[in-house]
Amino acid sequence: MRISEDSIKEVLDAADIVTVISDYVNLRQSGRNFVALCPFHKEKTPSFTVSREKGLFHCFGCGAGGNVVSFLMKLEKLTFVDAIETLAKKFGIKLKYEGGFNSDEDKELENLYEYSLLAMQFFHKNLLETNEGRSALKYLKDRGIDEATIKAFKLGYALGAWDGLYNFIKTNKYEPEIFEKLGLIIKKEDGDYYDRFRGRIIFPIFSTIGRVIAFGGRILIDEKDQPKYLNSPESRIYIKGKTLFGLFQTKDEIRRTQSAILVEGYMDFLSLYQKGIRNVVASAGTSLTIDQIYILSKVAPNINLIFDGDEAGQKAAVRSIELMLQTDVNFKIVSLPENEDPDSFIRKSGREKFLELVEDGKNYIDYVFELASKRNALNDTNSKLKVIDSLLEYTSKVRDPLRREILAREIAKKFNVTVNSVIKN
Ligand code: UTP
Ligand code: MN
Repeated sequence: MRISEDSIKEVLDAADIVTVISDYVNLRQSGRNFVALCPFHKEKTPSFTVSREKGLFHCFGCGAGGNVVSFLMKLEKLTFVDAIETLAKKFGIKLKYEGGFNSDEDKELENLYEYSLLAMQFFHKNLLETNEGRSALKYLKDRGIDEATIKAFKLGYALGAWDGLYNFIKTNKYEPEIFEKLGLIIKKEDGDYYDRFRGRIIFPIFSTIGRVIAFGGRILIDEKDQPKYLNSPESRIYIKGKTLFGLFQTKDEIRRTQSAILVEGYMDFLSLYQKGIRNVVASAGTSLTIDQIYILSKVAPNINLIFDGDEAGQKAAVRSIELMLQTDVNFKIVSLPENEDPDSFIRKSGREKFLELVEDGKNYIDYVFELASKRNALNDTNSKLKVIDSLLEYTSKVRDPLRREILAREIAKKFNVTVNSVIKN
């Protein structure tokens, strides 16, 4: 469907560029214009300017520029239609549509979004309204997830059969090829299809503006040779490493608190959300990527990373430190006791204890120091040197020399040596 020209004009008239851009960057008034650090490239002095009268932005550093629509398209990776719809929502404009598509490519994109939504509704209904869904519903309730949360995240259930979704597609005469492109059904040699997700709790994954783009599925009854979690493959509308589970539902709270709690799993996310902790997101389905960090850091400048207390958690923490240091975001590392994940911890110990733990998060220097000390790796000179070396190695990921120096000073202080000997290394 095409948005009418009149509606587009109406949106362009109403959408104040300063209001929109302020949602993402800290604009400062400077004469008739506004300036800020450019969100499209790394810089230390502001070369990004916005003119309210002209309705335009321009960066003298990287050359990015355009109007309020191109800003949103570029920053949130939206199609033109998505950008207009987002703005219409924000400024309370009711859009009028006309038949027809802008191009074949847009038509496919629209179809992918539309069919994802259909699949989500199908899974959601299975969970709430079928006999088979009852055990899945009980499973979720037993794990402390109530109906409000199930509805807020449109959780669903994929039937046990090989053709639950495929039958739904055939009955309604939908195009199987589109569902195939979404990875929801898979073609067999005889040309027929079977379902990717079978007998699984379904976690729909939303884009930041709330469109369903993919699914995660947790097996309901453990089966040998079946992974516990299965995810949609990537498609035109789903890039794993650029997606954060739950961000659509929690981004306002993250923005409000200026701080995000980043967990790994779907159930960890839902469990915290259920307990009223709403500034949470999950990397779900992939190990943390730098793009995910960039996306999150645009919403909040502080990130709390939560890791399991075991060996694997420590490894993941170290990996994340190196990634985080490549960005300028503030971050803390929160360690859980051994054999706990955020879900199990909050269910056992409660919300207050969990928040205390988050409050107790360490910067990476203290984290590495304490870990080493627990492993008795600070008892002799050689091991101590190793720990300092690894800290300096992480710190070398920091691009800004000033920031690097500040961190080097902190490391020196922590180990009670002079900064010169640390920097010389
Ligand atoms: P875990 O194996 O730690 O499971 O995977 P969990 O989150 O504690 O799951 P529950 O509590 O048993 O339900 C953590 C996350 O890693 C991803 C999923 O996003 C999962 O939530 N994962 C895990 C996969 O994508 N595939 C897998 O096979 C396993
Ligand atoms: Mn778990």
